[in-house]
Amino acid sequence: MTTQTEQPQLDMQKVEAFGGRALGLLNDAALVAMLSIGHKTRLLDTLATLPPSTSQQIADAANLNERYVREWLGAVVTARIVEYNPVDKTYWFPREHAAMLTREAGPNNMANWAQAIVELTKATEASVTECFRTGGGVPYSAFPGFQKLMADLSGMVFDGVLVSNVLPHVPGVVQQLEQGIEVADVGCGSGHAINLMAKAFPNSRFAGYDFSPDGIAAARSEAAAWGLRNAAFQVQDAAALNVRDRFDFITTFDSIHDQAYPGKVLKNIANALKPGGTYLMVDEGTSSYLEENIDHPMGTLLYSVSVLHCMTVSLAQGGEGLGTMWGEQLARKMLADAGFTVQEVKRVEGDIENAYYITTKAR
Ligand SMILES: C[S@@+](CC[C@H](N)C(=O)[O-])C[C@H]1O[C@@H](n2cnc3c(N)ncnc32)[C@H](O)[C@@H]1O
Repeated sequence: MTTQTEQPQLDMQKVEAFGGRALGLLNDAALVAMLSIGHKTRLLDTLATLPPSTSQQIADAANLNERYVREWLGAVVTARIVEYNPVDKTYWFPREHAAMLTREAGPNNMANWAQAIVELTKATEASVTECFRTGGGVPYSAFPGFQKLMADLSGMVFDGVLVSNVLPHVPGVVQQLEQGIEVADVGCGSGHAINLMAKAFPNSRFAGYDFSPDGIAAARSEAAAWGLRNAAFQVQDAAALNVRDRFDFITTFDSIHDQAYPGKVLKNIANALKPGGTYLMVDEGTSSYLEENIDHPMGTLLYSVSVLHCMTVSLAQGGEGLGTMWGEQLARKMLADAGFTVQEVKRVEGDIENAYYITTKAR
């Protein structure tokens, strides 16, 4: 028996087992930094094209400095990502590993996520730590590279599945898009989703709204480069969007949970839809209850991204700070409060992260 002041007996087996995990997480955290560099330098992409090669051959193929490449290879070999043959000092990237760590892997490219963790931590760790003491948040302006980062992350899903696999899930919408309808994407970031849809459906007209001038500039520049005449972009605060009954189909891609005033934005989206119109809300496929997220394969990653970005940018505006993990139960309630009928919540192959809420506005 222990009294309140006595220390309880420690279960030493548990301590040792956790010690292994604690050391493992330091190795993995360091590895994330290496994978981020491997992604940015395209070293991982290059390795995936090479037969077993020496560090010099790899550095030459990637056009990088051999000494740095060799040290980096040490990290990824000891992490069991790349295999090493000490006889001829060659390195081999198993194609089964490349299938999860290269641009070729599309939505499965975890090295792109590694880059995101490093960038978000770099941008905000110090100021977010301060917010733990003072409350408040870190504003978008503290994340100068955010739009580019987000475009990299969502781009791999949009390119992989948006037109081929997402839109066909929404009843009737592909046919309508082919015939010609009015479409909007709210919180469109760099506009890649709109541009892809505008290219695929030339009879329809597309509008992208975001309050980030950087995002809208990138969106316009892609639309111009692709010669699109049916995509327009506007710098617009979604909480102040004042449009009535204009659109047949509205989408949001991961842009509700980090809003300052998500309920207001959902209502504005409902107002902007024509009666009978469809709203596709793509957002994190999680539960609103921590206990139901414990086995979520991306749980730790998504809660951490919430601390480092999604929750804090909302709180910085005096907003609600829903956070990345607001979850399906709350999402359904907020959609209903805004006037939508949730027809279905789907998962889409090729996107392990998001739930697809297919909703309609009453006629
Ligand atoms: C997580 S990003 C998603 C961007 C884009 N939909 C994508 O998937 O790449 C959220 C976006 O919402 C935008 N956003 C946040 N609050 C907004 C507001 N009140 N009005 C307009 N855009 C907003 C941000 O600028 C950002 O581009």
